[in-house]
Amino acid sequence: MGRIPHRPGGPWTGILLAASVLGSCLQPAPAQTPVTIVLTPPSPVVGGGVSLAPQPPPQGFVSCSWYRSATTDETSRILTYFPPPNPIQQNGSAHTGRETAGPGCALNIAGLMLNDTGNYTVQIQIPTAATPVLSITVALRVYEKLAKPTVTLNQTQVPENGTLTLTCNTSPRADTVLWLQNGSYLTPNTRLELSSENRTLTVLNFTWGDTGTYQCEVGNPVNTNRSEPSTVTLAYGPESARIDPPGPVNLTLGSRLTLTCVAVSVPAPSYSWFLNGTKLPQTGSSFTFDLTTLNLGTYKCQAHNPVTGLTASAETEVLGE
Ligand SMILES: *[C@@H]1O[C@H](CO)[C@@H](O)[C@H](O)[C@H]1NC(C)=O
Ligand SMILES: *[C@@H]1O[C@H](CO)[C@@H](O)[C@H](O)[C@H]1NC(C)=O
Ligand SMILES: *[C@@H]1O[C@H](CO)[C@@H](O)[C@H](O)[C@H]1NC(C)=O
Ligand SMILES: *[C@@H]1O[C@H](CO)[C@@H](O)[C@H](O)[C@H]1NC(C)=O
Ligand SMILES: *[C@@H]1O[C@H](CO)[C@@H](O)[C@H](O)[C@H]1NC(C)=O
Ligand SMILES: *[C@@H]1O[C@H](CO)[C@@H](O)[C@H](O)[C@H]1NC(C)=O
Ligand SMILES: *[C@@H]1O[C@H](CO)[C@@H](O)[C@H](O)[C@H]1NC(C)=O
Ligand SMILES: *[C@@H]1O[C@H](CO)[C@@H](O)[C@H](O)[C@H]1NC(C)=O
Ligand SMILES: *[C@@H]1O[C@H](CO)[C@@H](O)[C@H](O)[C@H]1NC(C)=O
Ligand SMILES: *[C@@H]1O[C@H](CO)[C@@H](O)[C@H](O)[C@H]1NC(C)=O
Ligand SMILES: *[C@@H]1O[C@H](CO)[C@@H](O)[C@H](O)[C@H]1NC(C)=O
Repeated sequence: MGRIPHRPGGPWTGILLAASVLGSCLQPAPAQTPVTIVLTPPSPVVGGGVSLAPQPPPQGFVSCSWYRSATTDETSRILTYFPPPNPIQQNGSAHTGRETAGPGCALNIAGLMLNDTGNYTVQIQIPTAATPVLSITVALRVYEKLAKPTVTLNQTQVPENGTLTLTCNTSPRADTVLWLQNGSYLTPNTRLELSSENRTLTVLNFTWGDTGTYQCEVGNPVNTNRSEPSTVTLAYGPESARIDPPGPVNLTLGSRLTLTCVAVSVPAPSYSWFLNGTKLPQTGSSFTFDLTTLNLGTYKCQAHNPVTGLTASAETEVLGE
């Protein structure tokens, strides 16, 4: 307990005495209603203000001291307020220049910051009351307006039965994190796992039904905000490949020939070409050349999907005369 604050220069003892004499003449005090502290607004926001008001408003108090802690030591005293007719706000060592008193025993804080979050205690002196010194502590939480979160994916094209990890990047002070697929809220199941306070969503044994767009939605009592949709597709193939035109190709020497490798694959595969088993420099899905005696033989294309790890190949024979 800190020392009882004195009205500066006031005849303290005289008031106390007078009050106790007066008090004894009054009717027996009615059953005391418990005093609580009401926050207005209930969810204060960074940059805004808040009022902490004892309810019901105390009657007959001679001073109210507010402390920025659960205890009433002088170092954490914000202010002491002495009511009319000569209202005085005496600032304490924890006063930041943003706190004002009143009406009643209320404490008003302007220009709120996140670190104003904490416990506040008011000590009310009512010499006439059954409890002449009343201490009430209240927890203040200052909220921030949550910015739009972002989603990070460890891959956007996921192979069948693969594992997709999505992370919602948001303030550590977001109270709730929910996930949506194609605009509908997801609920966890054996294949959908939430971790790190819902900030990570893991999709196991990925299938067609897991494709589409993913969003996360973050919330606190002040606002909710949603990420932009991130698209996830299924990676598949190639199961097979073929070369167009199909062989055997029989052309006169000097003719121009285009070979095209066709493979169904997401993402698009990388291609390799071989002539009689020797790797060629070409890496496109097709290539064109003029037939000479030096480039006849067996052409092979290989289509490789780096995500599924699947490779398919096809061969065609090119003859000439
Ligand atoms: C106490 O703080 C308030 C708000 O910053 C200010 O207006 C007032 O002048 C201060 N009072 C004293 C006595 O310094
Ligand atoms: C709260 O944070 C502000 C800056 O954001 C800083 O100036 C102030 O000293 C901090 N107050 C406390 C009590 O830590
Ligand atoms: C406020 O008090 C509660 C218990 O009453 C405690 O758990 C909490 O840590 C305190 N908050 C701060 C910021 O000191
Ligand atoms: C979401 O956050 C953006 C800034 O990132 C902000 O401009 C917008 O107002 C917020 N939306 C809501 C509904 O709070
Ligand atoms: C994925 O798993 C299912 C069931 O275990 C299996 O039938 C299917 O062949 C698998 N698909 C791939 C591409 O591994
Ligand atoms: C994505 O993360 C999962 C699990 O953390 C892992 O199994 C998978 O290999 C990762 N994929 C990529 C492309 O890193
Ligand atoms: C986590 O997600 C589950 C399922 O969507 C939801 O019920 C729960 O409220 C969320 N929890 C938090 C802290 O966001
Ligand atoms: C995922 O697939 C593997 C192999 O197909 C299977 O053993 C496992 O039970 C599946 N997991 C879930 C959560 O379906
Ligand atoms: C989500 O949308 C994608 C693309 O339209 C679709 O392939 C997928 O099946 C949808 N998933 C669900 C669960 O609705
Ligand atoms: C290629 O075509 C020529 C004439 O069109 C024919 O004489 C020759 O037998 C053919 N060669 C093969 C291997 O089909
Ligand atoms: C490829 O092999 C065939 C048959 O053995 C041969 O006729 C052809 O000349 C070879 N082509 C090259 C470029 O070595």
